[in-house]
Amino acid sequence: MAAFTELVFSGVQPTGNLHLGNYLGAVKRFVEMQARDAQCLYCVVDMHAITVWQDPEALRGQIREVTAAFLASGIDPTRSIVFNQSQVPQHAELAWVFNCVARLGWLNRMTQFKEKAGKDRENASIGLYDYPVLMAADILAYRATHVPVGEDQKQHLELTRDIAQKFNTDFSGSIAAHGHGEAFFPITEPLIGGPAARVMSLRDGTKKMSKSDPSDNARINLTDEADTIAQKIRRAKTDPEPLPSEVAGLKERPEADNLVGIYAALAGITREDVLRDFGGAQFSTFKPALADLAVTSLAPIAGEMRRLTADPGHIDAVLADGSTRAEAIAAQTLDAVKDIVGFVRRGPSLQAVR
Ligand code: TYM
Repeated sequence: MAAFTELVFSGVQPTGNLHLGNYLGAVKRFVEMQARDAQCLYCVVDMHAITVWQDPEALRGQIREVTAAFLASGIDPTRSIVFNQSQVPQHAELAWVFNCVARLGWLNRMTQFKEKAGKDRENASIGLYDYPVLMAADILAYRATHVPVGEDQKQHLELTRDIAQKFNTDFSGSIAAHGHGEAFFPITEPLIGGPAARVMSLRDGTKKMSKSDPSDNARINLTDEADTIAQKIRRAKTDPEPLPSEVAGLKERPEADNLVGIYAALAGITREDVLRDFGGAQFSTFKPALADLAVTSLAPIAGEMRRLTADPGHIDAVLADGSTRAEAIAAQTLDAVKDIVGFVRRGPSLQAVR
């Protein structure tokens, strides 16, 4: 395969209730990726959000809130590119080209669409069905090589790889003729891992922690106050046994496994490390320790988010700057894609004044 410069891309939907799963499975890892010697782009995917109806005024607030969460968690907008998807038109443009590359059969297999559309599939938006294609466009508009996400996004990233592969094959002659060698798009590597790749509900260890769970006690929101965080952990569902001393002992104990995983991810250690300290302990000992750790890790983020969202002008300026920098990269990809596909396009000077 052709050599591609390492580039990291990921996105979060501004659909409200940003929770501990989003933080540990995604945002915290975005921050860690900044230490790599690679350009990182972190996108608030507002066009994905409207695949289900969003109240316009609420949506604007939620876009700013996710941006604030990025910044409050430690994403540095001078090093990484922080922006919202709708300000970079190339995402939608590339999605159209990919609509003509992806196959109906591929999309029909997407489990997240089936879950989200539910029984009333005829009434789901076409955007919801096409969601994974837009996601491929997000990633490949930057020819991103690495995408940190939670485990629930694995199938979508496989589709992104399939689309890149098919584009490279379908247009191989044109790709070579335009001087791009044998592959134009990289086969993106998903970065799914760590102890919190799948954070589960605090009320049911077999269900994913989710923004849409009707019970607020099922999740820890990034905006929760310290008292609320501690209370939700105290009330989290558990079983009557003490913690095992080996990870194998967490099998068949989904709630215990989840709380140990959360502790490990917050502390930046492994489940083994946690059980070395807490093996044999009762939940009456472990839960307060976890609550303390969660509060010390999360309360400063919530405080900083409140401070940042009080100044929407600053957040909008960060997004505007990030969008300009993102567009500079994506526009190059789209120019090349248009040439490869065979479109006639304006020259560089006209593009520059758009
Ligand atoms: P969203 O907003 O639903 O989720 C954002 C990120 O949070 C992760 N996540 C979790 N991780 C661990 N445990 C959980 N319970 C949990 N719940 C959510 C998700 O895996 C995700 O990483 N489709 C994406 C948004 C997107 C995107 C992209 C991501 C659009 N374009 C391009 C990467 C690259 C999503 O699920 O957002």
